Amino acid sequence: MKNFLIVANWKLNGNIKMISSFFETLKLNLSAYANKSTIVFAPSDVYLERVYQCINDMNIFLAAQNVDINLKGAFTGESSILMLKDIGVKYIIIGHSERRLFHQETNDFIAKKFLLVKKLKLIPILCVGETEKEKQNGQTKQVIKEQLSCIFQKLGNSAFRNTVIAYEPIWAIGTGFSAHPKDVQLIHEFIKNYIRKHDPSSINETIVQYGGSVNHSNAKEFLKQSDINGLLIGSASLNPQEFLKIIRIACHITGE
Ligand code: 13P
Repeated sequence: MKNFLIVANWKLNGNIKMISSFFETLKLNLSAYANKSTIVFAPSDVYLERVYQCINDMNIFLAAQNVDINLKGAFTGESSILMLKDIGVKYIIIGHSERRLFHQETNDFIAKKFLLVKKLKLIPILCVGETEKEKQNGQTKQVIKEQLSCIFQKLGNSAFRNTVIAYEPIWAIGTGFSAHPKDVQLIHEFIKNYIRKHDPSSINETIVQYGGSVNHSNAKEFLKQSDINGLLIGSASLNPQEFLKIIRIACHITGE
């Protein structure tokens, strides 16, 4: 039986009122589906504790959208893994394309974060994916290989045990143009084979999810692909009814 990992990345969205009404709706509707998929919310750091209070009695987990590479000290404006762990965070999104683009995060810098997150026993969600131009030039696999190999270099062959990789083609994020599920399946297969080559026995310990304009109309086709283990959802996760529809779809497939 498949157990999907469904992660809601709220990015720089949400407020106290929205969070209260979102989880009221979720509480009323989620119980029938709660144990069939693993559900994770990644709000802004500002609201992590508030969301934690809302999900306390539900089978839902918390993720941070980013983290600093320092654990403590004079680093104004940052959050550390220790702090995030302290307030109940279980997953940390690393290397989202918006951080690579707007904050100039490099593969090497992201690998440092990945190493630290694992060392402190949280679960990294590593985002990988190509730009539109790289896709047009047929460089998708090469780009992903570079993004992954940097992690292997820092952590060794078993780097991806008990971790999550999110394939998010940059051209599909926030555009309404998702990748084709069959193309995503091929990329996920490539990612899993690449990991298997380094660590033949670890592949079941790595979750590979897709992100990029996922909504209730396309979720089913993605989740039906054999190597898609979950979804990383941006804008569709901000609407509780829309998000619930996606959870229902995941649970129906799990039950098939
Ligand atoms: P959208 O679902 O809004 O395209 O965002 C995807 C994403 O970036 C999730 O991390």
